[in-house]
Amino acid sequence: MTGADRLVVEGLTKRFGKTVAVDGLSFEVGAGHIMGLVGPNGAGKTTTLYCLAGLLPADSGETRWGGQALRHDDGRVGLVPESPEVYPALTVYEHLGFLARLHRLGPEWQAAAERWMERLDLARHRDKVGGALSKGLRQRVILAGAGLVRARLLLVDEPMIGLDPMGQREVRELLREMAADGAAVLLSSHQLGLVEALAESVVILDQGRERAAGTIDELRAAAGLSASDDLETVFFRILDRSG
Ligand SMILES: Nc1ncnc2c1ncn2[C@@H]1O[C@H](COP(=O)(O)OP(=O)(O)O)[C@@H](O)[C@H]1O
Ligand SMILES: [Mg+2]
Repeated sequence: MTGADRLVVEGLTKRFGKTVAVDGLSFEVGAGHIMGLVGPNGAGKTTTLYCLAGLLPADSGETRWGGQALRHDDGRVGLVPESPEVYPALTVYEHLGFLARLHRLGPEWQAAAERWMERLDLARHRDKVGGALSKGLRQRVILAGAGLVRARLLLVDEPMIGLDPMGQREVRELLREMAADGAAVLLSSHQLGLVEALAESVVILDQGRERAAGTIDELRAAAGLSASDDLETVFFRILDRSG
């Protein structure tokens, strides 16, 4: 891993008509790190992730990985959307095989797919079709696909919505593992406890703009709070101040 293995976002801006959904946003996430993107509904979290995933064209700003413009044609950016979709008629294994062909992986993809299915506890679901999978399983298929194509940047949007406590714990562990494996993880969530548990750094977003950024300790200090205050307290203090 080199210092160059990082996502650098500078001045990202995205408008929908008169709405400035993302307004000059800048941040960095290094390989092996989890950054939390938090903010109220409509803050611009999903739009940010979609721009980084290449699903929405940004109006301006730069996104780089390792010093080069971030590419979207090589599978290195994986998006786990809030409503994860997999091909309804393909089995879990076929879905991974489709991704392997799409990304022109060599025959070793099969062994890698087995490993990822084992790791994400999907092996016993391998012959189930996408249409029969729960949300938690669809998320895991998408994460397995991102692992298979060796995504270096994982964009994860509101991963806990609709999961039971067991599923939530699994997702927490998985995101930690994917980061430990060297992925840069950008986690958007309005569940501040989750972000506090996982993220080393946080950007607080409101109306498309950064209100504060840093480690949770730095945010606490910026908000004039003490070590016993949690991210939720910090979040409300910072949003109150910025009006
Ligand atoms: N496709 C779209 N067309 C028009 N406005 C949109 C679209 N997507 C998002 N917006 C607007 O952009 C802003 C940011 O939305 P979003 O990124 O979904 O926020 P968040 O994920 O933080 O809840 C909101 O004002 C939302 O209404
Ligand atoms: Mg959203």
